[in-house]
Amino acid sequence: MPAFRNVLDPKNYDPADIIVADVAIIGGGSSGTYAAINLREMGQNVVVVEKKKHLGGHTNTYRDHSTNVTIDYGVQAFLNSSITRDYFAHFGVPVVNYTGSNNIFLLADFNTGKPLTINPSRDLTGWATQLAKYPWLDSTWNVPQPVAADLLLPLRDFLTKYNLSDVAFAIYFGAQGLSNPLQQSTIDVMKMVDPAYLFEMTGSSLGTAHQNNAEIYLKALAELGSNALIHSGVTAATRTEKGNVSLAVKTRKGAKLVQASKVLITIPPTLENMKPFDLNPEERRLFSQWDYKGYYTVLLNNTGLPSGYQWINANYSAVTYNIPQQPSASQITSTRIPGIFYVWYRSPSEMTREDVEKAVILAIQNIQTAQNLTVTTPHILKFKSHTPFKLSVPAQAIRDGFYSNLYSLQGKRSTWYTGAAFIAHNSGLVWNFTHGLLPQIASD
Ligand SMILES: Cc1cc2nc3c(=O)[nH]c(=O)nc-3n(C[C@H](O)[C@H](O)[C@H](O)COP(=O)(O)OP(=O)(O)OC[C@H]3O[C@@H](n4cnc5c(N)ncnc54)[C@H](O)[C@@H]3O)c2cc1C
Ligand SMILES: *[C@@H]1O[C@H](CO)[C@@H](O)[C@H](O)[C@H]1NC(C)=O
Ligand SMILES: *[C@@H]1O[C@H](CO)[C@@H](O)[C@H](O)[C@H]1NC(C)=O
Ligand SMILES: *[C@@H]1O[C@H](CO)[C@@H](O)[C@H](O)[C@H]1NC(C)=O
Ligand SMILES: *[C@@H]1O[C@H](CO)[C@@H](O)[C@H](O)[C@H]1NC(C)=O
Ligand SMILES: *[C@@H]1O[C@H](CO)[C@@H](O)[C@H](O)[C@H]1NC(C)=O
Ligand SMILES: *[C@@H]1O[C@H](CO)[C@@H](O)[C@H](O)[C@H]1NC(C)=O
Ligand SMILES: *[C@@H]1O[C@H](CO)[C@@H](O)[C@H](O)[C@H]1NC(C)=O
Ligand SMILES: *[C@@H]1O[C@H](CO)[C@@H](O)[C@H](O)[C@H]1NC(C)=O
Repeated sequence: MPAFRNVLDPKNYDPADIIVADVAIIGGGSSGTYAAINLREMGQNVVVVEKKKHLGGHTNTYRDHSTNVTIDYGVQAFLNSSITRDYFAHFGVPVVNYTGSNNIFLLADFNTGKPLTINPSRDLTGWATQLAKYPWLDSTWNVPQPVAADLLLPLRDFLTKYNLSDVAFAIYFGAQGLSNPLQQSTIDVMKMVDPAYLFEMTGSSLGTAHQNNAEIYLKALAELGSNALIHSGVTAATRTEKGNVSLAVKTRKGAKLVQASKVLITIPPTLENMKPFDLNPEERRLFSQWDYKGYYTVLLNNTGLPSGYQWINANYSAVTYNIPQQPSASQITSTRIPGIFYVWYRSPSEMTREDVEKAVILAIQNIQTAQNLTVTTPHILKFKSHTPFKLSVPAQAIRDGFYSNLYSLQGKRSTWYTGAAFIAHNSGLVWNFTHGLLPQIASD
């Protein structure tokens, strides 16, 4: 036996382990699952390679096994657009106007647990006026050149320039998962607190009638059957200009060889994630520029906190417009299952599970102590990492045409791209962007 086996050579595979497809889709989250289902409708054979045991990416649904009541502690709601409605209709999953919870909001400093009697403005009218200058925001990252100087200002300077500092906290809160927003380029924040977000805030967002956002992903998995390789990862690849992609895939059922005409990358295209894909120098140059945030969701019980509340972390300090320092939990939220709360935790960089859990428990205990509640040891039911979250590049790279170069990768080397890094951290917009791309992929 040679020590080195060429994992891309079909001769090294049992024919049963060679999968032939029109499109290999990498990542079975929001964009990958949408692409898989819709490409099939367009007559394309697909295979999906997903690293986790389930589809759905940032969707986290918890089921209480004694009652079957489900709660969503990841993705909550969806842009109400015809694309979203059609997609849910495909699975027969009913949607309703999203109303959120009836929780009472309380602002507190999670470092001390003390309530804060501040009342940051939630009036985003002035912000909306600024967004309106950039009507392309929700449909592309291909920023018109030369890039408007305002978009490259750190958010803090932009807010000062337009007398919008009063709504810094509301913007921070809306830009879920984005750490230290005041230091980010304005465009990166506008991509999160975007026209779609404002539209959704006016009541134009959809929730699932069963409060079970994982349902479409369970149905998608059943529909895809053996064309979904879950718990799997690509270990090596070749991609040619002429529509020949070979992927060595490690699955729980052994090694497979995927031979496809094209590949659709939907995972965050960090250098680490893209390493197995036989990168050329231009791809490596682009993917090595990404920075990203840490973002975590934690589900707990035994919190000692009363149901019916959402605690929101804030800071008395006007210097940061009440935005708390990160890393920190941004909110502690009561769910419809009595006694169960979820926490969203933001960090400027990746953290260990242990450190996030410790910090979350401490924040809850600070509230217990400061508010004279019984001090308990909160019990962690679930922990999910959403890291790497919100890929971004420095302002200078954006000015120098990073996104235009990124977009020009589309279709080269039989490779296409979609997902949050290519459009926005919003399922409805990710689906809309993907929808626009699929005819090109199918006819490629
Ligand atoms: C806590 C939280 C709440 C959110 N709430 C909302 C909301 O309410 N509404 C909304 O519209 N958006 C929400 N979002 C935004 C969400 O990011 C986008 O809606 C959407 O999930 C982005 O889609 P995507 O396909 O790019 O990424 P994902 O959905 O994350 O899909 C990527 C998939 O690729 C897999 N993967 C990663 N690396 C590899 C690899 N190397 N090999 C194989 N597979 C891999 C992942 O496991 C994942 O399944 C939320 C995000 C988070 C984290
Ligand atoms: C919960 O749902 C499962 C599957 O949908 C079903 O088999 C089970 O009977 C349900 N249990 C309860 C308590 O409703
Ligand atoms: C979604 O938007 C459409 C079009 O505006 C509207 O008819 C519908 O009532 C909204 N909500 C739902 C749950 O479909
Ligand atoms: C700045 O905005 C505040 C309200 O947020 C307003 O009271 C004030 O008059 C504005 N200042 C200027 C110079 O427009
Ligand atoms: C959803 O809300 C919109 C207003 O935002 C309303 O016009 C519509 O009738 C509602 N649809 C349903 C199905 O409740
Ligand atoms: C596609 O590439 C693989 C790996 O390089 C090779 O084995 C195969 O013969 C190629 N197929 C075609 C049709 O070019
Ligand atoms: C918390 O959940 C665990 C695991 O389900 C359970 O054993 C424990 O009794 C729960 N604690 C409380 C206070 O609900
Ligand atoms: C609030 O801001 C001050 C000063 O910037 C800082 O020392 C403190 O840690 C902050 N507290 C929180 C909860 O972010
Ligand atoms: C959806 O994408 C199309 C391009 O495919 C774009 O024209 C449209 O503005 C996008 N819709 C939204 C809501 O951004």
